[in-house]
Amino acid sequence: MKEKVIIITGAAKGIGWGTARCFAAKGATVVIADMNEQAAEASAHQLATEYGTPALGIGCDVTNREQVEAMVQRTVETFGHVDVLVNNAGICPFVNVMEMEPAIWQRTIDVNLNGAFHCTQVAAREMIQRGKGGRIIFITSLAENITGPAQVDYGASKGGLRMAMVGFATALGQYGITCNAIAPGMILTDMTRFHWEKPENAAYIKKRVPMGRIGQPEDIGKAAVFLASDDAEYISGITVRVDGGYQTRAD
Ligand SMILES: NC(=O)c1ccc[n+]([C@@H]2O[C@H](COP(=O)([O-])OP(=O)(O)OC[C@H]3O[C@@H](n4cnc5c(N)ncnc54)[C@H](O)[C@@H]3O)[C@@H](O)[C@H]2O)c1
Repeated sequence: MKEKVIIITGAAKGIGWGTARCFAAKGATVVIADMNEQAAEASAHQLATEYGTPALGIGCDVTNREQVEAMVQRTVETFGHVDVLVNNAGICPFVNVMEMEPAIWQRTIDVNLNGAFHCTQVAAREMIQRGKGGRIIFITSLAENITGPAQVDYGASKGGLRMAMVGFATALGQYGITCNAIAPGMILTDMTRFHWEKPENAAYIKKRVPMGRIGQPEDIGKAAVFLASDDAEYISGITVRVDGGYQTRAD
């Protein structure tokens, strides 16, 4: 991964941060693009200190086209090019759909789906212009296929994101750019901590997940490093489910 430049959205913490660490551990240059600018800069500083690799934190709300364009432009000005984009920024408000304000629905779709469109189109144009291919990874969810009453907005955004990934794969293959998704299962981050740290829910994970534990952000990061590698050059348009076997179990 040396010489590779990786942009990860929403990487100041959680799955994006774990993914950033996995890429930095392989010697990659990482751009942490997060709407929390201070946290993005602090995380990039930590990455550079810990791994001795170049890293840059940029404040960027993925729903804002101008900010996305500025973020990609600053990456190119600083490091020369973009090899990999990880569309990770996402939210899950956990509100029952029948009580949901339309603005909440709109924001979920804007961040999880429209934000990935902006980032993918802008980064892919840069990759096409350079002419050396690229890798685009979309962090979806098991909710790309299954959902529940308090995650209808989330499921709609992630199902849409999966199809956006498939569609971009068809559009970008001719340029040597692959597009794939990673669907995380239950991963311990600030998004889900309130739920999984309750003793009864922790016990459920132990019993219900074949691997017997909750996922960590680095479980997703390792899959992302593989999909971004030269070894994955003929893989495009698929979802890799990283859930410790959870969704294959019927009971
Ligand atoms: N945690 C899980 O169990 C789980 C499971 C499946 C999928 N996912 C997906 O993984 C991704 C990361 O989730 P997480 O658990 O790490 O969440 P998290 O809440 O811990 O971190 C999300 C990060 O994204 C940033 N962010 C939010 N909105 C943004 C925006 N508009 N622009 C730029 N940055 C923004 C936040 O500032 C934060 O740093 C999301 O797409 C989420 O849907 C998470």
